[in-house]
Amino acid sequence: MQKVLVTGGLGYIGSHTVVELYLEGYEPVIVDDLSNSELFILDRIGEIIKFKPTFYQINLLDEVAVAKIFAEHMFAGVIHFAAFKSVSESVQNPLLYYKNNLGSLINTLSLLENSNSNNFIFSSSCTVYGEADNLPINENALLKKPTSPYGKTKSMGEEIISDFITTYNKNAILLRYFNPIGAHKSGKIGELPLGVPNNLVPFITQTAARIRKELLVYGKDYPTKDGTAIRDYIYVCDLAKAHILALNRLINKKNTTNIEIYNIGTGKGNSVLEVIETFEKVTKTKLNYRFTDRRSGDVTAAYAEADLAKENLGFEAKTTLEEALKTAWDWQLSLK
Ligand code: WQD
Repeated sequence: MQKVLVTGGLGYIGSHTVVELYLEGYEPVIVDDLSNSELFILDRIGEIIKFKPTFYQINLLDEVAVAKIFAEHMFAGVIHFAAFKSVSESVQNPLLYYKNNLGSLINTLSLLENSNSNNFIFSSSCTVYGEADNLPINENALLKKPTSPYGKTKSMGEEIISDFITTYNKNAILLRYFNPIGAHKSGKIGELPLGVPNNLVPFITQTAARIRKELLVYGKDYPTKDGTAIRDYIYVCDLAKAHILALNRLINKKNTTNIEIYNIGTGKGNSVLEVIETFEKVTKTKLNYRFTDRRSGDVTAAYAEADLAKENLGFEAKTTLEEALKTAWDWQLSLK
């Protein structure tokens, strides 16, 4: 089997992508420092795919340790998830985010330089668009300055990769995720928000599970149909599949330029209130929430124009908001 290095492979998106990689016939090799995940996720992945991937618990800032991995394996590709991802934490501790997210990326790329691995998939984010002028957002939209250090590490990361790829004649695909939600249908893996969740859906499920007292809806005065902000909520397993399609494209040399960029979303926007109401309907629970002020840095609306990913990758997000929220709730209940 062709080996694929997955950095951050025990994290939320990473673990779901490891499952899809194996099902596609690749051998995933995982690197994770467990700063935002737990080792039992490796066992859960093993239960799902009936195969225990090679796992290295290392921090990508440890260049010697990372070099050893590249010396031990020949990778057909590298999928780079490893990064801190809390918008609010990045505002409180910007240097931690620049050091970790950019340092890890640079170390990984510098080892790619002298290896036979030529294919690099990067976990980017729609946050690089900021408050887009036009909706849906396509890949040619003007990149506005992200409003958080987290978002800046994504846009700077894209620049670093672009310069690297050009100089060393490698190939990369940048996947700009919209809002990943849900959990694997097996109920064995999902989003492990360690601490108070930042994101909407884990906060909803923890409120419904009485772990949190109430959900605060940040803003009821946006210029949208119901006053709450709009996002493109994509099921995590659909997002994971997009990585496989992107990797196949590079391995099969179907890419037309050294670096390609794709928005990965459903192409549909849902408001916070719609997500809440859909969750209540799907789970037959009543959510305790109230409206409060907008959260600084939030944009009014962001949802993808998903045509390019469909045309070039053959990617289409098939899972509905209802189905994705059901998997999130089932996962929450399994954590009890
Ligand atoms: C969604 C909507 C909030 C929590 C960020 C990053 C993105 C990606 C996902 C990492 C917004 C509202 C939220 C709550 C609320 N990164 N909300 N109450 O901010 O769109 O995207 O996370 O995975 O790169 O930018 O996602 O889930 O935080 O917020 O009302 O308790 O839900 O205001 O409108 P966001 P989110």
